[in-house]
Amino acid sequence: MSDTKELTRHYSRSDLLGAIKRGLEALGKKRETATLDDLALVDEFHVGGRQASIELLDQMDVSADQFVLDIGCGLGGPARFAADYYGCKVAGVDLTEDYVTAGRVLCNWVGLSDKVSLRQGSALNMPLVDGTFDAAYMMHVGMNIADKAALCSEVYRLLRPGARFGIYDVMRVGEGELTFPVPWSSVPETSFVARPQEYKDALAAAGFKIVAERNRRDFALDFFEKQRVRLAASDGLPPLSLHIVMGENTGEKLQNLVTNIAENRVAPVEVIARKIA
Ligand SMILES: C[S@@+](CC[C@H](N)C(=O)[O-])C[C@H]1O[C@@H](n2cnc3c(N)ncnc32)[C@H](O)[C@@H]1O
Repeated sequence: MSDTKELTRHYSRSDLLGAIKRGLEALGKKRETATLDDLALVDEFHVGGRQASIELLDQMDVSADQFVLDIGCGLGGPARFAADYYGCKVAGVDLTEDYVTAGRVLCNWVGLSDKVSLRQGSALNMPLVDGTFDAAYMMHVGMNIADKAALCSEVYRLLRPGARFGIYDVMRVGEGELTFPVPWSSVPETSFVARPQEYKDALAAAGFKIVAERNRRDFALDFFEKQRVRLAASDGLPPLSLHIVMGENTGEKLQNLVTNIAENRVAPVEVIARKIA
């Protein structure tokens, strides 16, 4: 099976909207009145959820008159949050058709279709015009992309000079084999976890200057511990949560991720770069 086919198999989910609607109803909410905060339980597909998005985006100098690119946008949760919170426009690109199709409807539900556009495509060849964007970000996507240099060149092409590119990915920080499945890959063949230095080299080669770097290991372990305590105090899985996008073996994927982080093999890391003017 090709990498793309295996990735599509890993991420694709039928009836995402039906599952989200049922989850909302179980919480006593309706899709007509669903808020961004309600949807954040299911559409922020990265370690730390909404809080992690806020902490990355706050370093991006985003303002209301800007056009921002979300690479590997998934269901579009961070894109909708950015559009709502900063007032900017956001374009999202993602490989997984099921996410993009459902994500467009979610934009409609919360009245953000005029500010957020989502389209299917590869991060390595985005169907967008050179120099269009004032900022770009990517959350938990680079682990699926082997060629970090090609990825950084493609983002560089789309940004205007001086624009920031914020990355929040799970990166290699120590030694030892990773345990699979993990949220981004069912098998080792579609996991391309790289060291922060490899990202920084790829960014520099494309023409970016590194602005900041932050290892988010403690934040991640604290996030997972709070999640564990909440789950232990409840009757099973919450009706609206990432199990809707991660599927039946969500527990196993998350447990493996926690172990991989706790054993210091990987950690979520932010790298912020700026396109040299
Ligand atoms: C873990 S999810 C993160 C989604 C979103 N960034 C978020 O934080 O909610 C990883 C996403 O990367 C997308 N992806 C993986 N490889 C990609 C590629 N080459 N081009 C575009 N999207 C890709 C997947 O389809 C998936 O939606």
